[in-house]
Amino acid sequence: MPYASETLLRASFFDFTALASQPDDIAAHARYLEDGLLTLREGKVVSLENWEIAEGRTDTARVIDLRGKLIVPGFVDTHTHYPQTEMIGAFGEQLLEWLNQYTFPVEGQYHCPDHAAQMSAFFLQQLLSNGTTTALVFGTVHKQSVDALFQAAQQLDMRLIAGKVMMDRNAPAYLTETPEESYQDTRELIERWHQRGRLSYALTPRFAPTSSPELLEKVRQLRSEFPDTWLHTHLSENQQEITWVKSLFPERDCYLDVYHHHQLTGKRSVFAHCLHLEENEWQCLHDTDSSIAFCPTSNLFLGSGLFNIKRCWQQGVRMGIGTDVGAGTTFNMLQTLGEAYKVGQLQQYKLSACEAFYHATLGGAHALDIDDKIGNFNPGKEADFVVIDPAVSPLQKLRSGNSKDIWERLFVMMTLGDDRNIAQTWVSGKPVWQREREEATV
Ligand code: GUN
Ligand code: ZN
Repeated sequence: MPYASETLLRASFFDFTALASQPDDIAAHARYLEDGLLTLREGKVVSLENWEIAEGRTDTARVIDLRGKLIVPGFVDTHTHYPQTEMIGAFGEQLLEWLNQYTFPVEGQYHCPDHAAQMSAFFLQQLLSNGTTTALVFGTVHKQSVDALFQAAQQLDMRLIAGKVMMDRNAPAYLTETPEESYQDTRELIERWHQRGRLSYALTPRFAPTSSPELLEKVRQLRSEFPDTWLHTHLSENQQEITWVKSLFPERDCYLDVYHHHQLTGKRSVFAHCLHLEENEWQCLHDTDSSIAFCPTSNLFLGSGLFNIKRCWQQGVRMGIGTDVGAGTTFNMLQTLGEAYKVGQLQQYKLSACEAFYHATLGGAHALDIDDKIGNFNPGKEADFVVIDPAVSPLQKLRSGNSKDIWERLFVMMTLGDDRNIAQTWVSGKPVWQREREEATV
């Protein structure tokens, strides 16, 4: 008999039971249960079994019956900016002009704790209503922006990694600070939030152009004082940006060397974009066990370039998927995977649904070095998951109905799916978001 405190869910389930080192290995680790039973206790997974096997010893009256739905691990967004939620879809510019014209003015508002609190709540609702249960998030330069986000995430018991932006040059005066101020504010936030419940801190120098060597030295110091924090920044996104970095740091070998020189590479270092890497940069990412956040909708929207998925596997570099809102154009991971597929197509790389869902779940967790905690339904994992309605519109029903197997259904989901497909989102073993039935059928 199950414990009284257990939660039991019956549905179809899909996840990956182990990490893969090559794309061809992923399918061997995929687990699909057409009719399964997931047992949860105290916010963790107890077991995932075939319903047939579990049925005899299960108190069926207590089972939450979600037959017809597909449950997958909560999506992991490895790179996003919560303050940019309110300027998503800004017209006409590429990276550097886009930052100056749209991004910086919006980020200037986050000195206000009320605004930060309001937008934090909105942002987390966007994540949850799109099935994302963990994210690595940029705040703004203001420490109150990160206080507000962590407070909101704490109330939901979400696993979230975030940090305040650090920048001391090449940005408006209202968004810059001295290296010492940046150090002190960051240190205060780490002491307040890092490893508090499910929250963790990421040192967040925005990117090399807005960082002086003195600022980067402060980041290095913080990393040596708090070695289990994350490092989150941008790398090699745009050709003009790369040329600018070379002129700002002529003494460094390449863009990545600006960070590497200050000991900011390594496990738990996550570099967003990595579109135009030189040979030695790929090698350095591999040698230091750093991670990449591949952000397809952002890379297409800003016209930044095409991420080389094949090369990333060949080089053995950890990689996850990022939405990069607000340069990215959606919070939805299904749509993001659909765009990742098109990025692959433009380079003759076939991104299968199997591989795509791997990156969005266990692979993303691995990129963030938290695959021991989340990413699949192995016993002991934290119970963060999404209940997907595989077909909600007439077109989805038609196309899903004529799909021959789970692989085709998943591929159709990442091609046609969006937030309407997210029926429920669970965090720490509790439902935290549920779509209204009327909404889902519109
Ligand atoms: N590089 C530096 N800052 C940013 C940002 O806010 N968004 C993107 N996409 N790239 C950046
Ligand atoms: Zn970004």
